[in-house]
Amino acid sequence: MKRWISIGLWCVSALLIVGATSGSSVDHARVFRDYAVAADQPEASKAGAEILAAGGNAADAAAATMLALGVVNPASSGLGGGGFALYYSANDDELTFLDFRERAPAAATPDMFENVEGEPLPGPAAAPSQLGGLAAGVPGEPAGIAALVDRFGSMSLSEVIAPALRLAEEGFPVSSALAAMGTAFEVQLDQDAVMSKWDLAAGAVLRRPSLARVLHVFAKEGVKALYNGPLGREMATIVREHGGIMTFQDLRDYRVVTRKPLEGVLFGYRWITAPPPSAGGFTMLQSLTILERAVGGNPVYGAPLLHTMAESWKGPFVDRQRYFGDPAQIIQPLDRMMSPRRLEKRVALAGGEKAHPTRAYDFPIVWTNPPAKTPDNAGTSHLCVVDGKGNVAAVTTTVNLPFGARFTAAGIVMNDEMDDFARGVGKSNAFGLVGGAANLPGPRKRPVSTMSPTIVFRDGKPVLCVGAAGGSRIVTATQQVAMNILLFGMDADQAVDAPRIHHQGFPEKLRVETMVPLDEAIQNDLRARGHVIEPIRNIANVQAIQIVTVPERRLHAASDPRKGGSPAGH
Ligand code: DON
Repeated sequence: MKRWISIGLWCVSALLIVGATSGSSVDHARVFRDYAVAADQPEASKAGAEILAAGGNAADAAAATMLALGVVNPASSGLGGGGFALYYSANDDELTFLDFRERAPAAATPDMFENVEGEPLPGPAAAPSQLGGLAAGVPGEPAGIAALVDRFGSMSLSEVIAPALRLAEEGFPVSSALAAMGTAFEVQLDQDAVMSKWDLAAGAVLRRPSLARVLHVFAKEGVKALYNGPLGREMATIVREHGGIMTFQDLRDYRVVTRKPLEGVLFGYRWITAPPPSAGGFTMLQSLTILERAVGGNPVYGAPLLHTMAESWKGPFVDRQRYFGDPAQIIQPLDRMMSPRRLEKRVALAGGEKAHPTRAYDFPIVWTNPPAKTPDNAGTSHLCVVDGKGNVAAVTTTVNLPFGARFTAAGIVMNDEMDDFARGVGKSNAFGLVGGAANLPGPRKRPVSTMSPTIVFRDGKPVLCVGAAGGSRIVTATQQVAMNILLFGMDADQAVDAPRIHHQGFPEKLRVETMVPLDEAIQNDLRARGHVIEPIRNIANVQAIQIVTVPERRLHAASDPRKGGSPAGH
């Protein structure tokens, strides 16, 4: 029997429960003058602001915020996960994209998740790509944090680690978001030696002594200790005890990759965003390109625009399914996918009055089986930091589903990023994304992501840092919040609060939020155009900092009320 047959329902209900908490009492948006950190958890924003107050820069603060997030919200991110960081260094006007995404172990095979036999495991999201040792990719977060600090920071790693260490040792109040996720996944957390001891009632003080031990070693001995030393050995052993295939060598071989971010000039702004292995940046730039051509340079918010926007996402999501994989192993013809002639066909469809089936947007490019390049031998949280010198860090980091693979190794919550691979061609993952051949698991491969840390420029200066958590909805939510601010003149807080929509091609549903309902008249208009509307609780969690310079410098920082975060700064 395929033990993951029933995961679809489990996943949907679990993610709806955990995706958000309502009625947060924290101040989710604030205006600062000098510097700002917007994370999705108040203590994490404060950790970043503490580093900025002590003279650190945006890279130091982003690293400190990531470390603190791993302590205070282990459901979303942490040392056992990975992510992407987009960094703008104001001094030399340079943008760098750090890819510290998890990689598959060397022993991974394309069919490793097909026909897995055995009894279904209890609880939600229990497919072998989602729960247990096989689900865990080789973590990239420790290497990503070290790379940010080494390359761009002004402080030592141990100074940057200090706030997280303090939170782990002294404890912190459990947020209602973490409490909700704890309840949803309780039956699995109870199986883990470390997590079963956690009291995840909202407001309870949680201490993380086993993680504090790791943070001490990280601070004292540096990143090597986590990949090359006894901690790495311990991590690999525990992953294997949970049925995984990760080895100590996999950890020793892990490398951060520096990539060229994607960019496009659209609606008068220069948008800089995530390249492959994320499909998110590509989706956003293609959607904006289609929108600009279909509706013109000065769009007006309303049903016709939302209709065209929903249509604009169908094509890039189909492209993702067909062509996207790890850029180290698959050549992705991005230029040909974005060719004006090809996009013109999508513009013609998206600019019409009615919704079209997703297949109508499928214009395969002449492309025989993607030639493989020589292999490189070698839950999610988004945060934004703007420092006093004008540096900007946009970081999206994740363990994938809440509490990752739901076991700890060396006190660290291990990711289940392997579920971002195609389990088989045509099979869907936890976010309903349909798997394509280019994204089957393979040795040391990075799975395709939707994470889209983005910085937008106008006249050569950064005006917006934005990004989101929320699986396949990350990119659509990020794009809408950016458009709310840049094109519809909303403040960061209004932009983040506003209702959002989502379409990912398959399923053929236009998702709207129940937490922040879209105007009924607009919904009816969209129905009349042929959209099948499906309400879901929320569409992602977005953090944003808008950088205003006229008449004077102001940083409008907003954490999404859907997750209960709040920004910090000065
Ligand atoms: O990389 C990705 O696209 C996913 N692993 C992100 C997962 C996520 O956002 C979970 N949710 N809140």
